Amino acid sequence: MELYDAMSTLRAVRRLKPDPIPTDVLNRVLEAAAWAPTGGNAQPWRIVLVTDPAPKRTLGDLYAASWKAFTKGYADRLKGAPEADRARGARTLAAGDRLAAHFHETPAIAIFCFDARQMAITDAKLDRVSVVGGGSVYTAVQNLMLACRAEGLGCVLTTLLCEHEPAVKRLLAIPDPWGTAAAVPIGYPIGRGHGPIRRRPASSLTYDNRWGEAHK
Ligand SMILES: Cc1cc2nc3c(=O)[nH]c(=O)nc-3n(C[C@H](O)[C@H](O)[C@H](O)COP(=O)(O)O)c2cc1C
Repeated sequence: MELYDAMSTLRAVRRLKPDPIPTDVLNRVLEAAAWAPTGGNAQPWRIVLVTDPAPKRTLGDLYAASWKAFTKGYADRLKGAPEADRARGARTLAAGDRLAAHFHETPAIAIFCFDARQMAITDAKLDRVSVVGGGSVYTAVQNLMLACRAEGLGCVLTTLLCEHEPAVKRLLAIPDPWGTAAAVPIGYPIGRGHGPIRRRPASSLTYDNRWGEAHK
C-alpha cells in the first residue's frame, strides 16, 4: 500500500482475532523491523516472538495486572471531560480492557529487547531521563507496525509489560544485560482494524529556526 496511507492509518488496534498468521506474512513483517536504522547500524535489539500458549498466558496475566492499575481512576477522570472526549475515552478503555482480557489469545506477541551496551547513548550523562537509546529500538518497532498495516494485520505498541521486566525475562529466558522495550501483540483485526487517526498537525508541533516561532 501507499506509504503515506499506511502511516496516516496506523492506529492502535487492540481487538485482535486469535486466528494464526501465515509464517511467510510474519517473516515479511519481521524483516521490515530488521530494515530499521539504529545508532552505528548496531541493531542492538532482538525480538522474542511469543506464539506458544503457556508463555502467552503468563504474559497476558502480567499485562492485565498492569492494565488494571493503569486504568484505575481513568473512568473517573473521563467524567469531567467534554462529551466527545468522554465517548472516545470510553471506546479506548473498552478496547484496552478487551486486549487485556484476550492478550494471551493473540497469535503472536513480539517482545522487543535491547542491549544498552551496544548503544552510543549520547544523552546518558545529562541531568534528565535518557531517551536516545530507545531510538535504536523503536525505529524497528515502527517498521514492524507499518509492515503489519500493509499486511492487513492489527497491532499495538504496548509498554505496560516493561513494569514486569524481571518476570518477563525469566519467562522467556532473556539473558542479562538485555532489557525489554515493548510488546507488540499482532493479529488479524476484529472489525475495521486500522483506520483514521487523530493527531495534532505538524504546524502545531514544528517551529521555524527558533523555539516558539510558528512554522510557515
Ligand atoms: C511508547 C508507547 C507506549 C504505549 N503503551 C501502550 C500500552 O501499554 N497499552 C496500550 O493499550 N497502548 C499503548 N500505546 C498505544 C497508545 O495508547 C496509542 O498509540 C495512542 O493512544 C494513539 O492511539 P491511536 O494510535 O489509536 O490513535 C503505547 C504507545 C506508545 C507510543
